[in-house]
Amino acid sequence: MTRAVLIDCDPGIDDMMALLTACASPELELRGVTTVGGNVGIERTTRNARSVLALAGRGDVPVAAGAKRSLVRAVARHDSAHGDDGLGGIELPVPDGRPDRRPAAEFLAAAVEASTEPVALFAVGPLTNVALFYATYPDIAATLDRLVVMGGSIGPGNITPAAEFNVWFDPEAAYRVLAEPDVAVPTTLVPLDVTRRTGLGEADLARLAAAGPIGGYAARALGGYRHGAGPAIPVHDAVAVLSVMHPELMTVRRATVQVETGLGPGRGATLVDLRPEAAPAEGVDATPVDVGVVPTVDVVVDADSRAVVEALLDRVTRLDRR
Ligand code: RIB
Ligand code: CA
Repeated sequence: MTRAVLIDCDPGIDDMMALLTACASPELELRGVTTVGGNVGIERTTRNARSVLALAGRGDVPVAAGAKRSLVRAVARHDSAHGDDGLGGIELPVPDGRPDRRPAAEFLAAAVEASTEPVALFAVGPLTNVALFYATYPDIAATLDRLVVMGGSIGPGNITPAAEFNVWFDPEAAYRVLAEPDVAVPTTLVPLDVTRRTGLGEADLARLAAAGPIGGYAARALGGYRHGAGPAIPVHDAVAVLSVMHPELMTVRRATVQVETGLGPGRGATLVDLRPEAAPAEGVDATPVDVGVVPTVDVVVDADSRAVVEALLDRVTRLDRR
């Protein structure tokens, strides 16, 4: 049975891996992609999303651009770990045509409203578009089958000691979506703690490159990812997509998530409360929407990282075997 999905992203090398994974997975029916400023500017993230979809033979998937910057405070300019082009310098061909003319929030609402099946939304960049979707079209957002967010951290961050990049880039948006959504959308959080442990080594890059041109582009992009410590190259966003297709590889616990929106050194930190008393027992309404009541979120607290990488390689290399 296929599952209708939408992906909101800021490509981004690991966003590219998430898009390729989705395009290679027959269980997922990719209905559309929306883009947000984050790893690089909105013009680039939008161009990159269209280029990656065309590379995967899915130039038919509509792409709609969203927010250029965060809701409240702009972040200081920073060197992107993804390179100036956002894809590690691989310079993919730019497909003909143009993005969908609707802003991302409107596009998401239209895609969800038009669907006769439940739709899941993957959010693998800053949550600005999702916050705008929730605020502008709450009745439509409430019909989402699930929201799956790559972001936040239980422990230390990556962009600062306290914060993970997607939440740091727009903490107010993350707060709105995770702590005060006002819509009862079942939500999964795939935090940095799990994704930073799920990376590709040299042999994995070689397998991608040996598969063919698509795998070659992916391997070269990953090679350009200035991801920081450790030999393995993380594929944060692809883990979020794979968490839906391989739940058996994930350990999930219910929690509440608070987001620090102050201006101090903890800005963008996520407080993930895994204490049993913080989350209703199984079967109890996991997503109370009373204003001010922080809803329960399903948090991926562990994963079989090697099996996730194998699943990613199996899928992405399929694109060159079609
Ligand atoms: O912290 C990892 C997240 O930040 C990923 O979504 C990556 O693409 C960057 O946006
Ligand atoms: Ca991303």
